[in-house]
Amino acid sequence: MCVILYTYLNYLDVNKIPHMKERNVLAGNWKMNLDYMDAIQLVQALLEGVEDTDRMIISVPYLYISGLAKLTNNSPIEIAAQNCHQKEKGAYTGEISANMLASVGTDYVVLGHSERREYFGETDTLILEKIKMAFASNLKVIYCCGEPLDVREADNHSHFVAEQIEASILQLSSEEMKNIIIAYEPIWAIGTGKTASAEQAQEMHKVIRGLLVSKFGSETAEACSILYGGSVKPANADELFAMPDVDGGLVGGASLKADSFLSILRSNR
Ligand code: PGA
Repeated sequence: MCVILYTYLNYLDVNKIPHMKERNVLAGNWKMNLDYMDAIQLVQALLEGVEDTDRMIISVPYLYISGLAKLTNNSPIEIAAQNCHQKEKGAYTGEISANMLASVGTDYVVLGHSERREYFGETDTLILEKIKMAFASNLKVIYCCGEPLDVREADNHSHFVAEQIEASILQLSSEEMKNIIIAYEPIWAIGTGKTASAEQAQEMHKVIRGLLVSKFGSETAEACSILYGGSVKPANADELFAMPDVDGGLVGGASLKADSFLSILRSNR
């Protein structure tokens, strides 16, 4: 009897709590912005605003990682790189390996961002290679996916994103899934000021979690944080994060100022 009750309560725990707090993460993506002094000032202000129970990740230019990793040591702020090379090492002038990143205190690497896919021709196959290399260097991964406007308008977005996820995330093991955060970022909403509605975000996040359930089972799927990205700002964060499968955001423009990023963080508590 006890065992049945315990199993049932566990089931309720996993399946019925609408928004699982432990999945909440807020990530900032600085892209190619801020000089080093601005970066330090921003991080100092963020350190004053974060609480021990928060999970915050900032994805910063390579050059700043070492300094910012020291500044954020023993704080709830973790440091992400914005890219890494797919090879372990070698004659690749100008490139940065996952192992180099790990050796200066990087926690995460953002992979599959639409800007990398679009401007640097990164394919699903390459992204999977990079994910594997990141794991080999003990980095965790923020994996980005999302559809362009014409695909959304043709009502083909779920299929498009499912194909991206299948080509990379569904190739991983359950064990590797523990080190993945997924960010759904519709390309038409990135840097455009045009946000997906909370319902549009929820619809896609549910599709993604469904794919994870079918491949890895519900325990792994329910533990995975799925972030929304694309013009997240203080004015829309509450509504987006209230959705049961939206576990936080990957924030570009609004992560460059402490007050707006901290305001978004409070929406994610
Ligand atoms: P944005 O960028 O918040 O400026 O739209 C999001 C991202 O590209 O990660």
